Amino acid sequence: MTYTVPKLKDFSANALRKATDDARFAFKDEDREVSSEAEWKLFRDRWLARKNGILTQINEMWLKAAPKEAKREVGQRVNELKQFIDGEFARNHDWVVAADKLASGLQPVDITLPGIQRPIGAEHPIIKTMNDMVAVFRNLGYSVEEGPVIETDYYNFESLNFPPNHPARDMQDTLFIANQESKPLRERLLLRTHTSPVQIRTMEKMKPPLRIVIPGKVHRNDPPDASHSPMFHQIEGLAVDTNITFGDLKGTLDHAMKAFFGSSVKTSFRPSFFPFTEPSAEMLVSCFICGGSGLRGSQGCRTCKLSGWIEILGCGMVDPNVFEFVKHNGYDPRKVSGFAFGMGPDRIALLKYGVDDLQLFFQNDVRFLRQFA
Ligand code: PHE
Repeated sequence: MTYTVPKLKDFSANALRKATDDARFAFKDEDREVSSEAEWKLFRDRWLARKNGILTQINEMWLKAAPKEAKREVGQRVNELKQFIDGEFARNHDWVVAADKLASGLQPVDITLPGIQRPIGAEHPIIKTMNDMVAVFRNLGYSVEEGPVIETDYYNFESLNFPPNHPARDMQDTLFIANQESKPLRERLLLRTHTSPVQIRTMEKMKPPLRIVIPGKVHRNDPPDASHSPMFHQIEGLAVDTNITFGDLKGTLDHAMKAFFGSSVKTSFRPSFFPFTEPSAEMLVSCFICGGSGLRGSQGCRTCKLSGWIEILGCGMVDPNVFEFVKHNGYDPRKVSGFAFGMGPDRIALLKYGVDDLQLFFQNDVRFLRQFA
């Protein structure tokens, strides 16, 4: 049903409108059938070719054949039709070319355009700090373990020797998952307040000897400020074997701090308390900014608050009560001993890079993050 230009006998306004409308509809019908560039070229030539194209025929058969008094009207109508068809060809061409290239598996590409630059991301300073610290322990033969951020009361507290209602639970302002009251206490869900639950989880699935590091996210109900965030990170460590002593704890951590901060740092231990370690300690490193002097030139060192020491982690010998919870898997507290430690890489990154506001790490402003790339 291809369109052929009819001869006009009647040149009245109505007859003209009908004739030009028919041509338009015919054009649209043919346009819809076009699906490749080759077809599009045939279609274009059929309508626009100077020699015998449809518009040329219309010119001949309608305009030239029109009686004198109708010429003006016919001329106007034919012109409108011509403009419409020219416009349609101009508008449609890109689509046809694109569709055609897609069909042949080629994307339409304008190689003269400048390329789109995709900036390459970089390790976040906290993630970098964590990776660097984990690498130190991997070199000591530790393997990496992870655990869930949504924990049960059992793993976060009970199995770590926090008795129910013990004030030690208040030490860690816990964010609880809502509507858990109908469950027994130990099954209630919360956001883990430390990475220590992964100690138990790992001892449940792996027999001693064990040497693991546990990097991860933790949460506490602390309002955000320059040194606090409700979400932060920890790196936990656990070593269990026969005859592990406090000397092993000190030697391992002293080596790790020298590997991480530089061989000139010293470590110092002072007594502390955690329900899951006994004895417990806090470990400090000599200030890696002022070299432990507490002074920068004639001024006091701000990083260590003039003390020459920076608190880095909590640690201790695994409490025998903790081993009781995993005794069935080879952790008889009379046969094995171990040490554990937990540190905050966010604070370490803050000190190491001289950043004065913890929030900057979590606001994801590229102007800040770019400086570490
Ligand atoms: N889990 C303790 C805390 O978050 C840190 C710690 C880990 C202390 C392991 C001792 C041993 O404060």
